[in-house]
Amino acid sequence: MAVAQTQVAEFQDRLLSLGLARVSEAAALASAALVGRGDEKAADQAAVNAMRDQLNLLDIAGVVVIGEGERDEAPMLFIGEEVGTGKGPAVDIALDPLEGTTLTAKDMPNALTVIAMAPRGSLLHAPDVYMEKLAIGPGHRPGTVTLSMTPSERVSALASAKGCSTKDITVCVLERPRHEAMIEEIRSTGAAIRLITDGDVAGVMHCAEPHLTGIDMYMGSGGAPEGVLAAAALKCMGGQFYGKLLFRNDDERARARKAGIENFDRVYTRDDLVRGDVIFAATGVTDGSLLAGIKREPEHLTTETILMRSKTGSVRRMTYRNPIR
Ligand code: FBP
Repeated sequence: MAVAQTQVAEFQDRLLSLGLARVSEAAALASAALVGRGDEKAADQAAVNAMRDQLNLLDIAGVVVIGEGERDEAPMLFIGEEVGTGKGPAVDIALDPLEGTTLTAKDMPNALTVIAMAPRGSLLHAPDVYMEKLAIGPGHRPGTVTLSMTPSERVSALASAKGCSTKDITVCVLERPRHEAMIEEIRSTGAAIRLITDGDVAGVMHCAEPHLTGIDMYMGSGGAPEGVLAAAALKCMGGQFYGKLLFRNDDERARARKAGIENFDRVYTRDDLVRGDVIFAATGVTDGSLLAGIKREPEHLTTETILMRSKTGSVRRMTYRNPIR
């Protein structure tokens, strides 16, 4: 009897994961008409509306812990919003209905819709501040690279772990003025840099499949909420992630306190950010090296979604053809 109940629970979990893929697909499909139209807000709003509608059909008692912002600044999918029918398991939801609003508006690579689900209380409630991030792929001992190393030390450490030259390492970095010194130091090692203009969830995910993406390491600062989503993806795909919150002023520290964070100097590992089994789904909006973007044909739209479960390590890629009515 006990075994049967476990099997039922496991089956429900699998069904829910497919539901999560539909949520991510719905957001991508809704933003399709806005790819390359120069309107970031409209693209984001379309994705938010569709994600919320679809999410509320799932049999979960969900709470948004990473969302569109605080309740007073985001009318939908705000932090603390209850989502789902309320009938299923109690879960935390982390989402970004459009990761790369500018990428979408400009039809540039690697815009995604992203959602992750984990048991209630297992995802860090990351405030909307920056996070210093560092990620590498699977197969290395913990601490092969650390945030306390300098950028050039990280490149050397990863090269020796891989048994290659620093010239064979490629690091992905967000192109921002704040990263100029770091970029110069990485280049001084002979390593290559893949600069991205936005979208560091995809940037981090690239580290999990270096043989396919050509990226060995991700470093630099970006949004802390995106850090939790990236950690969720790596927990499913394999790989190490380290993050440290960065505060520019007292208002940001107050946001962190409100989110229950007391130690402002803490370095979070992947499993500190995502403490339980997680299900992660992402759908390509624009073409990228991880996922194809939405394809438009006269009679249908096609999307590609990656759906992963950390419990089993399963990675499923799904193509969905949606008739245009
Ligand atoms: P949006 O989709 O909200 O525009 O965020 C894109 C993004 O590039 C994230 O991937 C990244 O974490 C963050 O913005 C970086 O912030 P900033 O643009 O302030 O450097």
